[in-house]
Amino acid sequence: MTQHLTIVDHPLVQHKLTIMRNKNTSTAGFRRLLREISLLLAYEVTRELEMTTTTIETPLQTMQAPTLEGKKLALISILRAGNGLMDGILEMIPGARVGFVGMYRDPETLQPVQYYCKVPNELDARMTIVVDPMLATGNSSVAAIDLLKKQGARNLRFLCLLASPEGVARMLEAHPDVPIVTASVDERLDDHGYIVPGLGDAGDRMFGTK
Ligand code: URA
Repeated sequence: MTQHLTIVDHPLVQHKLTIMRNKNTSTAGFRRLLREISLLLAYEVTRELEMTTTTIETPLQTMQAPTLEGKKLALISILRAGNGLMDGILEMIPGARVGFVGMYRDPETLQPVQYYCKVPNELDARMTIVVDPMLATGNSSVAAIDLLKKQGARNLRFLCLLASPEGVARMLEAHPDVPIVTASVDERLDDHGYIVPGLGDAGDRMFGTK
């Protein structure tokens, strides 16, 4: 059975992540590194895609060759920072179906409120990978996965760049069936819900806003 948490400790991932964490890294550099790192994380998160075989002719002979089975996977970006992770993955898996879930935090209740949802059909027949660079409190990730399960998704994965111990625990409690793949589990959350040491606000850093 798949383990619940996979930390991708590959040297290239860790090296790129260190540059991304550095506050002096430019917006352009941050975006380029996020795209590069997402290719490496995509490799890990898709490890359990189902395979079958197909008959092909090589220049030398006929062979039964491995190929992906089943419906195209679904990639779901949690807006807006999820889009930065998604772009790289789509280069690796151009046939993936793509969905978006938009959430904001209600300032009174601090709970996530959905403002947008458009997802591929037949989620019950697809591996569904939810992407958001930062698993912080876990509230929006848990809510997005609740929503996707209501739409039929059953074979889910959650992909992030950084996670907090609190976010991992919250996901494990709410969705123990959804494996998490990340490049690092950092020390903690601060009082504002930022991951420490982290890399700051991922959306601001990738889009150059503040
Ligand atoms: N979202 C971010 O972009 N950064 C954090 O540290 C936490 C949530």
